[in-house]
Amino acid sequence: MTCRTRLMKTGIGTIAATIVGGVIVGMWSAHPAAQATGASSSRSPRVARGEYLVKAGACNDCHTPWRLGDNGPEPDIARLLSGHPATLGVPTEPPLAPPWFIAATATNTAWTSPLGLALAPNLTPHPTGVGSWTEREFMAAIRTGRHKGTGRAIRPPMPVQPLNRMTDEDLRSVFAYLQSIPAIDNAVPVPGSSPPASGAVTPIPPAGPPAPAATPVARGKYLVDVLGCEDCHTPFKTGDKGPAPDMSRRFSGYPSSETVPAGRHLEAPWASAMTLTQAKQGPWGTSFAANLTPDNETGVGTWTEQQFIDTLRSGRHQGRGRALLPPMPWPSLSHLTDADMKAVFAYLRTVPKVRNKAPEPLAPTK
Ligand code: HEC
Ligand code: HEC
Repeated sequence: MTCRTRLMKTGIGTIAATIVGGVIVGMWSAHPAAQATGASSSRSPRVARGEYLVKAGACNDCHTPWRLGDNGPEPDIARLLSGHPATLGVPTEPPLAPPWFIAATATNTAWTSPLGLALAPNLTPHPTGVGSWTEREFMAAIRTGRHKGTGRAIRPPMPVQPLNRMTDEDLRSVFAYLQSIPAIDNAVPVPGSSPPASGAVTPIPPAGPPAPAATPVARGKYLVDVLGCEDCHTPFKTGDKGPAPDMSRRFSGYPSSETVPAGRHLEAPWASAMTLTQAKQGPWGTSFAANLTPDNETGVGTWTEQQFIDTLRSGRHQGRGRALLPPMPWPSLSHLTDADMKAVFAYLRTVPKVRNKAPEPLAPTK
Protein backbone atom coordinates (compact mmCIF):
# COMPACT_ATOMS: atom_id res chain seq x y z
CA MET A 1 0.00 0.00 0.00
CA THR A 2 1.54 3.21 -0.99
CA CYS A 3 1.33 6.20 1.23
CA ARG A 4 2.83 8.53 -1.28
CA THR A 5 -0.45 10.25 -1.95
CA ARG A 6 -0.07 13.81 -0.92
CA LEU A 7 -3.42 14.03 -2.45
CA MET A 8 -4.71 17.19 -1.17
CA LYS A 9 -2.99 20.15 -0.04
CA THR A 10 -5.69 22.70 0.03
CA GLY A 11 -5.54 26.32 0.48
CA ILE A 12 -9.10 26.94 1.47
CA GLY A 13 -9.39 30.55 0.41
CA THR A 14 -12.14 32.79 -0.83
CA ILE A 15 -13.24 33.00 -4.37
CA ALA A 16 -15.42 35.59 -5.92
CA ALA A 17 -16.18 33.86 -9.16
CA THR A 18 -18.18 34.71 -12.19
CA ILE A 19 -18.91 32.22 -14.88
CA VAL A 20 -18.07 33.16 -18.45
CA GLY A 21 -18.82 30.47 -20.96
CA GLY A 22 -18.62 27.81 -18.26
CA VAL A 23 -15.21 28.97 -17.18
CA ILE A 24 -14.55 30.34 -13.76
CA VAL A 25 -12.86 33.68 -13.82
CA GLY A 26 -12.31 35.21 -10.49
CA MET A 27 -10.12 36.42 -7.76
CA TRP A 28 -8.88 33.71 -5.57
CA SER A 29 -7.64 35.65 -2.63
CA ALA A 30 -4.50 34.09 -1.36
CA HIS A 31 -2.98 35.18 1.86
CA PRO A 32 0.67 36.09 1.96
CA ALA A 33 0.30 35.85 5.73
CA ALA A 34 -0.11 32.15 5.15
CA GLN A 35 3.60 31.89 4.81
CA ALA A 36 4.57 34.21 7.62
CA THR A 37 6.42 32.43 10.36
CA GLY A 38 7.75 33.38 13.72
CA ALA A 39 10.42 35.48 12.11
CA SER A 40 13.67 36.05 13.88
CA SER A 41 16.62 37.84 12.42
CA SER A 42 19.64 35.90 13.59
CA ARG A 43 19.26 32.46 12.11
CA SER A 44 21.86 29.87 11.37
CA PRO A 45 22.17 28.93 7.70
CA ARG A 46 20.67 25.56 8.59
CA VAL A 47 17.58 27.10 10.22
CA ALA A 48 17.23 29.52 7.29
CA ARG A 49 17.41 26.64 4.81
CA GLY A 50 14.85 24.73 6.90
CA GLU A 51 12.52 27.72 6.91
CA TYR A 52 12.82 27.97 3.11
CA LEU A 53 11.98 24.28 2.70
CA VAL A 54 9.07 24.37 5.18
CA LYS A 55 7.55 27.48 3.56
CA ALA A 56 8.02 26.35 -0.04
CA GLY A 57 7.10 22.77 0.91
CA ALA A 58 3.69 23.88 2.21
CA CYS A 59 3.90 22.13 5.59
CA ASN A 60 1.64 25.01 6.73
CA ASP A 61 -1.14 23.91 4.42
CA CYS A 62 -1.86 20.90 6.61
CA HIS A 63 -0.02 21.36 9.90
CA THR A 64 -1.32 24.90 10.57
CA PRO A 65 -5.10 24.96 11.15
CA TRP A 66 -7.08 27.19 8.79
CA ARG A 67 -9.51 29.75 10.16
CA LEU A 68 -11.89 32.26 8.68
CA GLY A 69 -10.04 35.58 8.54
CA ASP A 70 -11.18 39.01 7.37
CA ASN A 71 -10.28 38.10 3.79
CA GLY A 72 -11.58 34.56 3.87
CA PRO A 73 -10.03 31.34 5.07
CA GLU A 74 -6.31 31.41 5.87
CA PRO A 75 -3.81 29.45 7.95
CA ASP A 76 -4.03 30.69 11.54
CA ILE A 77 -0.51 31.99 12.09
CA ALA A 78 -1.11 32.21 15.85
CA ARG A 79 -1.25 28.42 15.73
CA LEU A 80 1.65 27.98 13.31
CA LEU A 81 2.38 24.31 12.63
CA SER A 82 0.59 23.21 15.82
CA GLY A 83 -1.49 20.54 14.07
CA HIS A 84 -5.14 19.50 14.32
CA PRO A 85 -6.70 21.52 17.18
CA ALA A 86 -7.31 19.36 20.27
CA THR A 87 -10.51 21.36 20.88
CA LEU A 88 -12.04 19.90 17.70
CA GLY A 89 -11.53 16.33 18.87
CA VAL A 90 -11.62 13.41 16.45
CA PRO A 91 -14.10 14.28 13.68
CA THR A 92 -16.62 11.67 12.56
CA GLU A 93 -15.59 10.41 9.14
CA PRO A 94 -17.98 11.36 6.31
CA PRO A 95 -19.28 8.84 3.80
CA LEU A 96 -16.93 9.07 0.83
CA ALA A 97 -18.16 7.40 -2.34
CA PRO A 98 -15.88 6.78 -5.34
CA PRO A 99 -14.46 8.54 -7.25
CA TRP A 100 -13.78 10.64 -4.14
CA PHE A 101 -10.83 9.11 -2.36
CA ILE A 102 -9.87 11.47 0.41
CA ALA A 103 -11.52 14.39 2.21
CA ALA A 104 -10.28 17.18 4.46
CA THR A 105 -11.90 19.34 7.11
CA ALA A 106 -12.16 23.13 6.79
CA THR A 107 -9.13 23.39 9.11
CA ASN A 108 -7.26 21.24 6.59
CA THR A 109 -5.80 19.32 9.53
CA ALA A 110 -7.98 16.18 9.51
CA TRP A 111 -8.09 13.82 6.54
CA THR A 112 -9.98 10.67 5.79
CA SER A 113 -9.38 8.06 3.09
CA PRO A 114 -9.66 4.28 2.76
CA LEU A 115 -6.21 4.25 4.37
CA GLY A 116 -7.59 5.72 7.58
CA LEU A 117 -8.23 8.93 9.48
CA ALA A 118 -5.12 11.11 9.78
CA LEU A 119 -4.84 14.13 12.05
CA ALA A 120 -1.92 16.46 11.35
CA PRO A 121 0.45 16.32 14.32
CA ASN A 122 1.88 19.30 16.20
CA LEU A 123 5.29 20.10 14.70
CA THR A 124 6.22 22.82 17.21
CA PRO A 125 8.92 22.26 19.86
CA HIS A 126 6.36 21.73 22.65
CA PRO A 127 6.12 18.46 24.64
CA THR A 128 2.79 17.90 22.81
CA GLY A 129 4.67 18.38 19.51
CA VAL A 130 8.17 17.42 18.45
CA GLY A 131 9.77 19.15 21.45
CA SER A 132 11.13 15.93 22.88
CA TRP A 133 12.12 14.46 19.53
CA THR A 134 15.73 13.99 18.60
CA GLU A 135 16.93 14.78 15.11
CA ARG A 136 17.50 11.08 14.67
CA GLU A 137 13.88 10.28 15.54
CA PHE A 138 12.64 12.91 13.09
CA MET A 139 14.85 11.50 10.33
CA ALA A 140 13.65 7.99 11.16
CA ALA A 141 9.98 8.99 10.87
CA ILE A 142 10.53 10.43 7.39
CA ARG A 143 13.01 7.83 6.12
CA THR A 144 10.90 4.87 7.26
CA GLY A 145 7.44 6.43 6.83
CA ARG A 146 6.55 5.25 10.32
CA HIS A 147 5.26 7.16 13.31
CA LYS A 148 7.63 7.66 16.13
CA GLY A 149 6.31 5.66 19.06
CA THR A 150 3.68 3.34 17.59
CA GLY A 151 5.68 2.50 14.50
CA ARG A 152 2.53 2.39 12.38
CA ALA A 153 2.66 3.61 8.78
CA ILE A 154 2.20 7.37 8.39
CA ARG A 155 -0.97 7.88 6.37
CA PRO A 156 -1.78 10.09 3.42
CA PRO A 157 -1.88 12.90 2.68
CA MET A 158 1.38 13.36 4.60
CA PRO A 159 3.90 13.58 1.71
CA VAL A 160 6.30 11.02 3.14
CA GLN A 161 7.60 9.88 -0.23
CA PRO A 162 8.57 13.36 -1.45
CA LEU A 163 10.12 14.28 1.89
CA ASN A 164 12.06 11.03 1.94
CA ARG A 165 13.78 12.19 -1.24
CA MET A 166 15.35 15.06 0.69
CA THR A 167 19.04 14.86 1.43
CA ASP A 168 20.04 14.26 5.06
CA GLU A 169 21.26 17.84 5.26
CA ASP A 170 17.92 19.26 4.06
CA LEU A 171 15.93 17.09 6.49
CA ARG A 172 18.21 18.22 9.31
CA SER A 173 17.53 21.80 8.27
CA VAL A 174 13.77 21.23 8.39
CA PHE A 175 14.10 19.77 11.88
CA ALA A 176 16.36 22.64 13.04
CA TYR A 177 13.77 25.15 11.82
CA LEU A 178 10.89 23.31 13.51
CA GLN A 179 12.84 23.41 16.78
CA SER A 180 13.23 27.19 16.38
CA ILE A 181 9.55 28.20 16.06
CA PRO A 182 7.26 29.13 18.99
CA ALA A 183 6.23 26.11 21.07
CA ILE A 184 2.43 25.68 21.11
CA ASP A 185 0.55 23.50 23.58
CA ASN A 186 -1.79 21.35 21.49
CA ALA A 187 -2.18 17.64 22.21
CA VAL A 188 -3.59 16.34 18.92
CA PRO A 189 -6.12 13.59 19.71
CA VAL A 190 -5.38 10.02 18.65
CA PRO A 191 -8.06 8.50 16.37
CA GLY A 192 -9.52 5.32 17.81
CA SER A 193 -8.50 3.35 14.74
CA SER A 194 -4.82 3.93 15.52
CA PRO A 195 -3.04 1.05 17.17
CA PRO A 196 -2.12 1.84 20.78
CA ALA A 197 1.34 3.18 21.47
CA SER A 198 3.62 0.28 22.22
CA GLY A 199 7.36 -0.26 22.22
CA ALA A 200 9.05 2.69 20.60
CA VAL A 201 10.37 1.97 17.15
CA THR A 202 13.36 4.07 16.19
CA PRO A 203 14.99 2.25 13.32
CA ILE A 204 18.30 3.53 12.09
CA PRO A 205 17.47 5.87 9.22
CA PRO A 206 19.03 4.82 5.95
CA ALA A 207 21.18 7.53 4.41
CA GLY A 208 19.33 9.99 2.22
CA PRO A 209 20.06 10.63 -1.44
CA PRO A 210 23.29 12.43 -2.34
CA ALA A 211 23.14 16.17 -2.96
CA PRO A 212 21.96 16.82 -6.52
CA ALA A 213 24.50 17.71 -9.17
CA ALA A 214 24.91 21.40 -9.82
CA THR A 215 23.17 21.52 -13.21
CA PRO A 216 19.82 23.34 -13.26
CA VAL A 217 18.05 20.23 -14.60
CA ALA A 218 19.36 18.04 -11.75
CA ARG A 219 18.50 20.67 -9.17
CA GLY A 220 15.07 21.07 -10.74
CA LYS A 221 14.46 17.33 -10.57
CA TYR A 222 15.40 17.35 -6.89
CA LEU A 223 12.97 20.21 -6.17
CA VAL A 224 10.15 18.63 -8.18
CA ASP A 225 10.74 15.38 -6.26
CA VAL A 226 10.80 16.86 -2.76
CA LEU A 227 8.03 19.42 -3.35
CA GLY A 228 5.73 16.65 -4.49
CA CYS A 229 4.51 18.10 -7.82
CA GLU A 230 4.01 14.49 -8.89
CA ASP A 231 1.54 13.76 -6.10
CA CYS A 232 -0.96 16.13 -7.72
CA HIS A 233 0.08 16.44 -11.35
CA THR A 234 0.38 12.71 -12.16
CA PRO A 235 -2.93 10.81 -12.14
CA PHE A 236 -2.97 7.77 -9.85
CA LYS A 237 -4.19 4.32 -10.74
CA THR A 238 -4.95 1.45 -8.44
CA GLY A 239 -2.56 -1.47 -8.78
CA ASP A 240 -1.90 -4.61 -6.70
CA LYS A 241 -0.23 -2.53 -4.03
CA GLY A 242 -2.86 0.17 -3.86
CA PRO A 243 -2.95 3.58 -5.52
CA ALA A 244 0.24 4.61 -7.31
CA PRO A 245 1.12 7.30 -9.86
CA ASP A 246 0.54 6.22 -13.47
CA MET A 247 4.03 6.71 -14.85
CA SER A 248 2.82 6.55 -18.46
CA ARG A 249 0.92 9.78 -17.74
CA ARG A 250 3.57 11.45 -15.61
CA PHE A 251 2.92 15.14 -14.88
CA SER A 252 0.12 15.23 -17.46
CA GLY A 253 -2.66 16.35 -15.11
CA TYR A 254 -6.29 15.24 -14.83
CA PRO A 255 -6.95 12.87 -17.74
CA SER A 256 -9.30 14.34 -20.35
CA SER A 257 -10.59 10.80 -20.95
CA GLU A 258 -12.10 10.67 -17.45
CA THR A 259 -15.65 11.71 -16.72
CA VAL A 260 -15.60 14.90 -14.72
CA PRO A 261 -17.00 13.98 -11.31
CA ALA A 262 -20.39 15.48 -10.49
CA GLY A 263 -20.71 17.97 -7.66
CA ARG A 264 -21.14 16.80 -4.12
CA HIS A 265 -21.62 18.54 -0.84
CA LEU A 266 -19.77 17.54 2.32
CA GLU A 267 -21.17 18.15 5.79
CA ALA A 268 -19.11 20.34 8.15
CA PRO A 269 -16.46 20.01 9.47
CA TRP A 270 -15.52 18.34 6.14
CA ALA A 271 -14.92 20.82 3.35
CA SER A 272 -12.99 19.33 0.45
CA ALA A 273 -12.48 16.03 -1.34
CA MET A 274 -10.20 14.70 -4.05
CA THR A 275 -10.15 11.87 -6.58
CA LEU A 276 -7.16 9.69 -7.43
CA THR A 277 -7.33 11.14 -10.93
CA GLN A 278 -6.49 14.59 -9.50
CA ALA A 279 -9.79 16.44 -9.38
CA LYS A 280 -10.35 18.36 -6.18
CA GLN A 281 -13.60 19.84 -4.96
CA GLY A 282 -14.17 22.40 -2.23
CA PRO A 283 -15.72 25.80 -1.59
CA TRP A 284 -14.04 27.06 -4.79
CA GLY A 285 -15.74 24.50 -7.03
CA THR A 286 -13.88 21.67 -8.76
CA SER A 287 -10.32 22.09 -10.00
CA PHE A 288 -8.26 19.74 -12.14
CA ALA A 289 -4.48 19.34 -12.06
CA ALA A 290 -2.77 20.94 -15.07
CA ASN A 291 -0.51 19.27 -17.65
CA LEU A 292 3.10 20.21 -16.80
CA THR A 293 4.73 18.22 -19.61
CA PRO A 294 6.39 20.12 -22.49
CA ASP A 295 3.57 19.31 -24.93
CA ASN A 296 3.00 22.42 -27.04
CA GLU A 297 -0.78 22.39 -27.15
CA THR A 298 -1.84 20.95 -23.82
CA GLY A 299 1.18 21.42 -21.57
CA VAL A 300 3.83 24.06 -20.93
CA GLY A 301 5.71 23.45 -24.20
CA THR A 302 5.32 26.99 -25.49
CA TRP A 303 5.69 28.71 -22.12
CA THR A 304 8.67 30.96 -21.52
CA GLU A 305 10.69 30.65 -18.36
CA GLN A 306 9.37 34.06 -17.31
CA GLN A 307 5.73 32.99 -17.76
CA PHE A 308 6.41 29.99 -15.54
CA ILE A 309 8.01 32.17 -12.85
CA ASP A 310 5.16 34.69 -13.10
CA THR A 311 2.61 31.88 -12.64
CA LEU A 312 4.19 30.64 -9.41
CA ARG A 313 4.70 34.17 -8.08
CA SER A 314 1.26 35.60 -8.87
CA GLY A 315 -0.96 32.52 -8.75
CA ARG A 316 -2.29 33.39 -12.20
CA HIS A 317 -2.00 31.43 -15.43
CA GLN A 318 1.23 32.73 -17.03
CA GLY A 319 1.13 35.63 -14.58
CA ARG A 320 -1.82 37.33 -16.28
CA GLY A 321 -4.63 34.78 -16.86
CA ARG A 322 -7.19 33.48 -14.44
CA ALA A 323 -6.38 32.91 -10.78
CA LEU A 324 -5.20 29.39 -9.93
CA LEU A 325 -7.47 27.49 -7.59
CA PRO A 326 -6.60 25.19 -4.70
CA PRO A 327 -5.08 22.81 -4.11
CA MET A 328 -2.29 24.27 -6.30
CA PRO A 329 0.08 25.42 -3.52
CA TRP A 330 1.33 28.50 -5.35
CA PRO A 331 1.34 30.67 -2.18
CA SER A 332 3.96 28.24 -0.85
CA LEU A 333 5.81 27.76 -4.13
CA SER A 334 6.01 31.55 -4.53
CA HIS A 335 8.69 31.43 -1.83
CA LEU A 336 11.08 29.66 -4.22
CA THR A 337 13.96 31.79 -5.45
CA ASP A 338 14.07 32.70 -9.16
CA ALA A 339 17.01 30.32 -9.58
CA ASP A 340 15.02 27.43 -8.09
CA MET A 341 11.94 28.22 -10.20
CA LYS A 342 14.14 28.28 -13.31
CA ALA A 343 15.62 24.92 -12.30
CA VAL A 344 12.13 23.42 -11.87
CA PHE A 345 11.13 24.72 -15.29
CA ALA A 346 14.37 23.41 -16.88
CA TYR A 347 13.64 19.95 -15.49
CA LEU A 348 9.99 19.96 -16.62
CA ARG A 349 11.19 20.70 -20.17
CA THR A 350 13.01 17.35 -20.11
CA VAL A 351 10.12 15.06 -19.12
CA PRO A 352 8.29 13.08 -21.84
CA LYS A 353 5.53 15.05 -23.57
CA VAL A 354 2.02 13.78 -22.95
CA ARG A 355 -0.91 15.14 -24.93
CA ASN A 356 -3.74 15.74 -22.46
CA LYS A 357 -5.97 18.76 -22.13
CA ALA A 358 -6.97 19.03 -18.47
CA PRO A 359 -10.54 20.36 -18.05
CA GLU A 360 -11.29 23.92 -17.00
CA PRO A 361 -12.49 24.26 -13.40
CA LEU A 362 -16.19 23.98 -12.54
CA ALA A 363 -18.09 26.48 -10.42
CA PRO A 364 -19.23 25.41 -6.93
CA THR A 365 -22.48 23.43 -6.80
CA LYS A 366 -24.92 23.12 -3.96
C1 HEC B 1 -1.14 17.43 2.53
C2 HEC B 1 -1.04 17.58 3.95
C3 HEC B 1 0.34 17.56 4.59
C4 HEC B 1 1.46 18.24 4.20
C5 HEC B 1 1.64 19.16 3.00
C6 HEC B 1 2.47 17.92 5.17
N1 HEC B 1 1.98 17.05 6.10
FE1 HEC B 1 3.02 16.19 7.64
N2 HEC B 1 1.39 15.07 8.11
C7 HEC B 1 0.13 15.25 7.60
C8 HEC B 1 -0.80 14.37 8.28
C9 HEC B 1 -2.29 14.28 8.03
C10 HEC B 1 -0.02 13.62 9.20
C11 HEC B 1 -0.53 12.52 10.13
C12 HEC B 1 -0.45 11.20 9.38
C13 HEC B 1 -0.91 10.02 10.20
O1 HEC B 1 -1.45 10.21 11.29
O2 HEC B 1 -0.67 8.87 9.77
C14 HEC B 1 1.35 14.09 9.07
C15 HEC B 1 2.44 13.58 9.79
C16 HEC B 1 3.69 14.17 9.83
C17 HEC B 1 4.80 13.71 10.64
C18 HEC B 1 4.80 12.44 11.49
C19 HEC B 1 4.78 12.74 12.93
C20 HEC B 1 4.79 11.48 13.78
O3 HEC B 1 4.10 11.50 14.79
O4 HEC B 1 5.48 10.51 13.46
C21 HEC B 1 5.84 14.58 10.44
C22 HEC B 1 7.22 14.53 11.07
C23 HEC B 1 5.39 15.57 9.47
N3 HEC B 1 4.07 15.30 9.13
C24 HEC B 1 6.16 16.61 8.99
C25 HEC B 1 5.81 17.40 7.87
C26 HEC B 1 6.69 18.38 7.26
C27 HEC B 1 8.07 18.75 7.76
C28 HEC B 1 6.01 18.88 6.18
C29 HEC B 1 6.46 19.92 5.14
C30 HEC B 1 7.71 19.67 4.48
C31 HEC B 1 4.72 18.21 6.12
N4 HEC B 1 4.63 17.33 7.17
C32 HEC B 1 3.76 18.43 5.14
C33 HEC B 1 -0.22 16.09 6.56
C34 HEC B 1 0.66 16.84 5.81
C1 HEC C 1 -1.66 19.67 -3.89
C2 HEC C 1 -1.70 19.52 -5.31
C3 HEC C 1 -0.67 20.22 -6.16
C4 HEC C 1 0.69 20.25 -5.98
C5 HEC C 1 1.51 19.62 -4.86
C6 HEC C 1 1.22 20.99 -7.09
N1 HEC C 1 0.20 21.39 -7.91
FE1 HEC C 1 0.41 22.59 -9.57
N2 HEC C 1 -1.62 22.60 -9.81
C7 HEC C 1 -2.51 21.86 -9.07
C8 HEC C 1 -3.84 22.08 -9.61
C9 HEC C 1 -5.13 21.45 -9.09
C10 HEC C 1 -3.72 22.99 -10.67
C11 HEC C 1 -4.85 23.56 -11.53
C12 HEC C 1 -5.40 24.75 -10.81
C13 HEC C 1 -6.47 25.48 -11.61
O1 HEC C 1 -6.88 25.00 -12.67
O2 HEC C 1 -6.88 26.58 -11.17
C14 HEC C 1 -2.29 23.30 -10.77
C15 HEC C 1 -1.75 24.20 -11.68
C16 HEC C 1 -0.39 24.41 -11.88
C17 HEC C 1 0.17 25.31 -12.84
C18 HEC C 1 -0.61 26.26 -13.76
C19 HEC C 1 -0.83 25.69 -15.11
C20 HEC C 1 -1.58 26.67 -16.02
O3 HEC C 1 -1.92 26.26 -17.14
O4 HEC C 1 -1.81 27.82 -15.63
C21 HEC C 1 1.53 25.18 -12.78
C22 HEC C 1 2.58 25.89 -13.61
C23 HEC C 1 1.80 24.21 -11.74
N3 HEC C 1 0.61 23.77 -11.22
C24 HEC C 1 3.08 23.80 -11.39
C25 HEC C 1 3.34 23.01 -10.26
C26 HEC C 1 4.68 22.65 -9.82
C27 HEC C 1 5.97 23.03 -10.54
C28 HEC C 1 4.55 21.94 -8.68
C29 HEC C 1 5.62 21.37 -7.78
C30 HEC C 1 6.70 22.27 -7.40
C31 HEC C 1 3.11 21.84 -8.39
N4 HEC C 1 2.43 22.48 -9.38
C32 HEC C 1 2.58 21.21 -7.29
C33 HEC C 1 -2.21 21.06 -7.98
C34 HEC C 1 -0.96 20.93 -7.40
